[in-house]
This record gives sequence, structure tokens and C-alpha cells, in this order.
Amino acid sequence: MHTSSERPTTNAHLLGWVEEMAKLCKPDRVYWCDGSEAEKKRLTEEAVAAKVLIPLDQKKWPGCYYHHSNPNDVARVEHLTFICTPTKEDAGPTNNWMEPKEAYRKLGALYDGAMKGRTMYVVPYVMGPATSPFSKVGIEITDSVYVALNMGIMARMGKVALDRLGQSNEFNRGLHSVADCNPERRFICHFPQDNTIWSIGSGYGGNALLGKKCLALRIASYLAKNEGWLAEHMLILEAESPTGEKQYVAAAFPSACGKTNFAMMIPPAVFKGWKIRTVGDDISWMRVGEDGRLWAVNPENGYFGVAPGTNRKTNPNAMDSVRKDTLFTNVARTADGDIWWEGWDTEAPPELTDWKGQHWKKGSPDKAAHPNSRFTAPAKNNPAISPSVDDPKGVPISAIIFGGRRSTTVPLVLEAFNWTHGVYLGATMGSETTAAATGQVGVVRRDPMAMLPFCGYDAGSYFQHWLDMQTRIPHPPKVYMVNWFRKSAEGKFLWPGYGDNMRVLKWMLDRAAGRVGAQETLLGNTPKAGDLDLTGLDAPKENVAAATKIDLGEWEQELESQAEWFDKLGKTLPKPIALQREMLLERVRSA
Ligand code: GDP
Ligand code: PGA
Ligand code: MN
Ligand code: MN
Repeated sequence: MHTSSERPTTNAHLLGWVEEMAKLCKPDRVYWCDGSEAEKKRLTEEAVAAKVLIPLDQKKWPGCYYHHSNPNDVARVEHLTFICTPTKEDAGPTNNWMEPKEAYRKLGALYDGAMKGRTMYVVPYVMGPATSPFSKVGIEITDSVYVALNMGIMARMGKVALDRLGQSNEFNRGLHSVADCNPERRFICHFPQDNTIWSIGSGYGGNALLGKKCLALRIASYLAKNEGWLAEHMLILEAESPTGEKQYVAAAFPSACGKTNFAMMIPPAVFKGWKIRTVGDDISWMRVGEDGRLWAVNPENGYFGVAPGTNRKTNPNAMDSVRKDTLFTNVARTADGDIWWEGWDTEAPPELTDWKGQHWKKGSPDKAAHPNSRFTAPAKNNPAISPSVDDPKGVPISAIIFGGRRSTTVPLVLEAFNWTHGVYLGATMGSETTAAATGQVGVVRRDPMAMLPFCGYDAGSYFQHWLDMQTRIPHPPKVYMVNWFRKSAEGKFLWPGYGDNMRVLKWMLDRAAGRVGAQETLLGNTPKAGDLDLTGLDAPKENVAAATKIDLGEWEQELESQAEWFDKLGKTLPKPIALQREMLLERVRSA
């Protein structure tokens, strides 16, 4: 095994834990990642030699590689994800729970010898800017070179993390093994009390890149509750007006519901002089600043984005972000090292290798790229990256937006009457399921604050934490609900979306700055006639009317479905949230 000279740290807590995990997993070799360019080159070569990565045409796609996953391993697995708190009540009714000792025993047996014949990579990383008081250190042990390389893009990885950690014992202990990649033996377990994550049997990003969903959301949400801050499934964007004023918003949309697109949006021509820049596209850590406002950092350093539907028209900044040094997983590829996916700028070439590695012919009914195929791209590639991404104090948030994928019921935009009403809007958010998690696609489920799969503790207590934050934030952001996905009777999107979402964003920014009025409806405040700038919008007026319509019949059904959701949440559901539903029901019935 390794000699002490190869260990880049003298931290006894860390060395002891790595030794213990190596004894359990029995790798042939232990390798400590330093995060250098030379290391990246070496690991990439190893991965290519092992056929884990396939080089793309390096002239067209410099530094870019392709990865086919096991076809049984293409998305997050919510039914195999567990919160291992001392009691089931701590995990709450929306999480799977396993007793911690039982989980360590069960997974321990699976890890025993799982890395025989393999290298164990020790991946130190920081979530958040290296010097920020927000940031957290994690160490991920993994037997996947693909995971190590992805972590190098998604987090600040290597020496920077060990330097920050020093001799401290305060680091997240993440153990990951692909093992035999069998869904029968796949578990993603979180031990919030131990700041520990054990993940086995999957190499997919959300299950295997432990800094992301596991640490930055599930474990962090638990820490945030105890420490008085928020760890949320939110993009963070910067909006600069033509006069140079900057405002920041954070928005929670469920997986594959438009965060990356919104965070990289390019406004239509009529918004001349406006600039939208990306701070983050998936996760936001928010703390109350000395000035009484809510300040946010993006803990990540890269984008793990949905590939299908991304093209030069819908998201040019994402297309630029993936031009170099990017890993593509489960998209389609050509024989000469090019790539393609459904919703690319041009039609499919006559022949492709599909995401399963099989020959694909144009016109085939099967998708060439998996609907949840992904790119892993360095944030610094994004031409629209905000200069504030590395700011240790974060950015001040003036609006929080919740948004689901709803083909009916939910109008284009609503402004909450107040913080409590905003928490209610988030807590009752519904969204149609997507390919980002295994299971049926397109069924409406409640996904509070887009955190259903990511909240590391009881959902009712999470809503209470949100309510409690009000007393901690003297100058709270305004809260909104949006829906880009309402459909016509023919099943077509009513609102053009993408860059045109700037029209809605502009109204929210103006509201947050007190520059425009609003019209009160029973659901919340909405734009007054003419306040939503629709100049040059490529959509019929009646579609916009249908997208913004409040249909009381649909809302009666919606409120019934919310009642079922509240029943499921049980006795920790905060009273003020239940009361918001009752008051709305009253308003709907008497309207
Ligand atoms: P994320 O997973 O939340 O980051 O979502 P993405 O931004 O990657 O988008 C997921 C899918 O939704 C992609 O196929 C996008 O093309 C599509 N999408 C994103 N924004 C919009 C929008 O405003 N309208 C419509 N109709 N589709 C969108
Ligand atoms: P997404 O991130 O939100 O961009 O889809 C991955 C996920 O949530 O699984
Ligand atoms: Mn996500
Ligand atoms: Mn995304």
C-alpha cells in the first residue's frame, strides 16, 4: 500500500479514517488526488486506457471526453437513497430511513473487499470559495476514476482542500464504490450526525459525486437547520441593468425543470443593455449578512447539466461552456469523435452510436441520447459567469423564486403576499417528474422548494426552519412562484420560455426594487396589465393569456391535492402553513 511520503497530509483524523476505509474496501492501491493539471492529464490517460473515457475529436472538442454509463445507472435513485438519523421521525415521512448501525452494517458488508484489484482515489475538496466562511471541506474516497475526474470539475479539488482543512477533524467523510453496479446492491446513505455519506453501486453524478446532492444539499440542509442558514436546490443569477445596478436572485426548480437555462439566460433584444450572469446553476447556500440581507454562495465550481434540449438557440452560454475540458455522459456520438443529442441545433446525422453504445440510424424511434444525459463543464468556461462567483461573502439576494413543471393550474408568475405566504407557495410546490430520477416521468408530485429528494431531515421541520428564518432576516427577499411549462389543450407549451423568461424576471426585479406596482389576486400579486413587457414576443396573445390565467376549478382540485400532501406530512407541518391553505380555499370558494 502507500508509503507515508505519498500522503500529502499529516492530519491524523484524516489519515486514520482513510486507513480504516482502505482496510474495509481492500484496494490494490491508494492514490491521493492533488488537483493539479498534470494529475488530471494522467488520470484522463488512465481512464482512456481503461475505456472508461473515449476521446472526442480534440480539434473540435479540446479536452473533451465521452463516457457511457452502465445502462442500469443513468439517474438518481430516490428509492435507494436513505437518511440514517437515530429515529425515523428525524428523517420524516418524505425520506427513506435506515437505522444508522443497521446501515453501517449492511453497507459495510458490501464494501468489504469491493475495491480489490482497483485503485482507491482519495479526493479532498472544498464546496464554496476556498476562503469563504460559508465553505465546507469534504473528502471523497472512490474507486472510480470517472468520479475523481468529475469531482475535479465540480468542486475546488485537491491541495486547496487539504490546506483549508489543516489538522481539523471537521470534514465530511464520503465513501463511494461503484462495486458491481447492481441496482439490487445500490444504496446512497447519509449520516447527518456523523457528517458521513456512504454510497455504493452507482457511478451516476447525483449518486456518486458526493459533494453535490449528498453533501451540499442533504447533509448541508441538516447543518443549516441547526446553524440558522439555508442550503437550497437553487440557481443564483446576477442581473445588471442598463444603468449598471446589480440585483441577484435565487431560484428553486426541480431537477430538469430549467435551473441551468435560467441561470445562463440571454435576454431578448428589447432588453437592450441588460446583462444576466451566472453565479450558480444548481445549489445555493444562504446566510444572513451583517446588513440584514440574505447572502448566497454557489458551493460548486462546475455545471452538471442536462444535455438534451441544450442548443445555440436555447442556451448559447451552456454550449460555450461545454466547448472544452468537458465530460459528456450518455449523449450520442459519431464515429469521428463528434457528439449529438435530441434538441441539438441540427438534425441527427444519418448514423450514430447511441448512449448504450449501439448503432443508431436516423429515424429510429429510440432516443440516441439518454433523456438524462449530462455534461460536466468547468464554470470558468461560461462566458456569462459572474465576477462574484469566488467572492467569499457571496451575493445579496433580492428575490427567491419557486417554480415547477406544471402543464395546468399554476400561472406564469405570482408574487407572495409576505414571507409566510412565500413559504407556503414553496412548501406546496408541485412538479411533473422528469428523467433526472429513475421512475415514471410526467406525473405531478409535491416537490417542496424543489427539495423533496434533497432535504436531509423531516419536511415539516424544514418548513418551520424556513418560517423561523423570517425573524433572522431583517431585510428578506421577495418570494415568487413561476411556471414556464403550462400547456395548451393540444399539449404545446403556452409560454416560449428560455430567454423570454427575462420578461418575467424583469417584473420580479422591478418589484423587488419597488419600481413597479402589482395587481392583487386571490393567489398572490401578479403583473398589472401592460407591466409584463411583451414587445417582440413570438407567441400569440391568447397563449400568454392562457399561461397567466387563474382557473378556480383547477385551484379547487389543487387545494384538495395539497390537503393530501399535508396529511402525509403529519404533525410537524407548521400551523401557519396549514392555515395559508385554508385561507386560500376560503378565497377560492367565495370568489
Ligand atoms: P435543470 O436540471 O433544472 O438545470 O434544468 P435545465 O435548465 O437543464 O433544463 C431541463 C430541460 O428543460 C431541458 O431540456 C431544457 O431545454 C428545458 N427547459 C429549460 N427552460 C425551459 C423553459 O423556459 N421552457 C421550456 N419549455 N423548457 C425549458
Ligand atoms: P439538475 O441537477 O437539478 O440540474 O437536474 C442534477 C439533479 O438534480 O439530479
Ligand atoms: Mn439539481
Ligand atoms: Mn442543471
